[in-house]
Amino acid sequence: MELELLFSLVFLLLVRISGASSGSRNITSMFTLGDSYIDTGNFVIMAAPVIPVWIDKPPYGETFFGRPSGRPSDGRVIIDFIAEELGLPFLPASLANSSDDVSRGVNFAVGGATAIDVGFFERNSLAPFKLLNNSLDVQLAWFEKLRPSLCNTTEDSRGCFSKSLFIVGEFGVNDYNFIWMANKTEGEVRSYVPKVVKTIALAVESSSSSSDRPAELIDDGAAYVVVPGNPPTGCSPTVLTLRRSPDAADYDRVSCLRGVNDVARHHNALLRAAVGGLRARHPRATIIFADFYEPIRKILENSGQFGVVAGDVLKACCGAGGGAYNWNSSAVCGMPGVAACRDPSAYVSWDGLHFTEAVNHYVAKGWLHGPYADPPILRAIHH
Ligand SMILES: *[C@@H]1O[C@H](CO)[C@@H](O)[C@H](O)[C@H]1NC(C)=O
Ligand SMILES: *[C@@H]1O[C@H](CO)[C@@H](O)[C@H](O)[C@H]1NC(C)=O
Ligand SMILES: *[C@@H]1O[C@H](CO)[C@@H](O)[C@H](O)[C@H]1NC(C)=O
Ligand SMILES: *[C@@H]1O[C@H](CO)[C@@H](O)[C@H](O)[C@H]1NC(C)=O
Ligand SMILES: *[C@@H]1O[C@H](CO)[C@@H](O)[C@H](O)[C@H]1NC(C)=O
Ligand SMILES: *[C@@H]1O[C@H](CO)[C@@H](O)[C@H](O)[C@H]1NC(C)=O
Repeated sequence: MELELLFSLVFLLLVRISGASSGSRNITSMFTLGDSYIDTGNFVIMAAPVIPVWIDKPPYGETFFGRPSGRPSDGRVIIDFIAEELGLPFLPASLANSSDDVSRGVNFAVGGATAIDVGFFERNSLAPFKLLNNSLDVQLAWFEKLRPSLCNTTEDSRGCFSKSLFIVGEFGVNDYNFIWMANKTEGEVRSYVPKVVKTIALAVESSSSSSDRPAELIDDGAAYVVVPGNPPTGCSPTVLTLRRSPDAADYDRVSCLRGVNDVARHHNALLRAAVGGLRARHPRATIIFADFYEPIRKILENSGQFGVVAGDVLKACCGAGGGAYNWNSSAVCGMPGVAACRDPSAYVSWDGLHFTEAVNHYVAKGWLHGPYADPPILRAIHH
């Protein structure tokens, strides 16, 4: 609750400073690609028939929806808050074949999605288990398939997406997690960063892998594209548990895993540079780099200020109760008998991998109003 109050105060302050009014009516739709951080139901639809799934069980969704909604959080995810701010409905998951009007937006993001195609992980023995075929190129193909019902390019190619906000990411967290899980060294994981970043940058430029009719997001007139970086995955209770080290030097000053975070920061530096290159090539588009790392670090390093209990900063809210991080691979959130903490807003991690709604809200505000996006989304669309 205190965390929520603080967020509200910070929010009011930011609104006053920036002079931004809420509810821009200039953006008429939103299309999003990514992984579990912004999934609104695709993973459950895709995975439930083939593997055990827990995010469709209580206490997922308890804070906002009052029931599991397919989102891997206790409530809303980042894009829900962005949709609310833009006066758009919550985006339906693309695989739900929702009868909802898709003209105001669709979410293609799926939990577990990688930037690099799944075949690459399989061919190089980097897949820790059978991966779902839901990487960035596959999501772009889903977008392509839906495109005729969104926009008839023959009539109005340029105008089609000129009032749409695209969010491409976060991508990369799963790519690196899978490679870490294959017991690769930090140097080896790092060597994949340029390939991951290049894959994301190409997707932003060109939404289609089919060369017969290249359908560039930007060249088709997509005026606003948000490209989020990676969060500090070395602070996630799951990664902290799986990669626990006896060597104190492997931990940074907030007790996160240094090597894992170094890779995330390297990714962010290269991605930011790639966004710079895209801007130079496409001066008519607004390409926004969204920082997913600093807002999380800010909360972890100033936990008291955010109402997070100091001893619980790196613990999952929802877990079986054991270990240093309240994360146990054989008793995860959603399984019978695994409970959530009393106040999720006093935690950073919801289930060991994903953030609580309170954190998602803080990140979304930072992207909309600043300081965690360059330029902040609301400033960009009011120009
Ligand atoms: C819509 O865009 C115009 C400029 O094209 C701007 O003047 C106006 O403030 C915008 N309205 C909203 C609600 O964002
Ligand atoms: C959505 O439609 C596709 C084909 O049109 C079908 O294969 C799939 O099972 C449907 N999904 C759901 C969740 O109904
Ligand atoms: C994933 O699906 C795409 C079609 O959407 C297909 O071309 C590709 O071969 C599939 N990859 C794997 C590893 O199954
Ligand atoms: C585009 O054309 C197709 C086929 O004629 C039609 O079904 C669809 O509704 C049209 N979409 C838009 C956005 O006008
Ligand atoms: C990685 O190393 C751990 C610990 O040595 C081992 O249990 C695990 O099987 C290894 N995984 C792979 C994919 O080699
Ligand atoms: C993890 O959960 C399993 C199954 O409930 C249990 O047997 C085990 O003791 C737990 N481990 C820890 C560290 O709490």
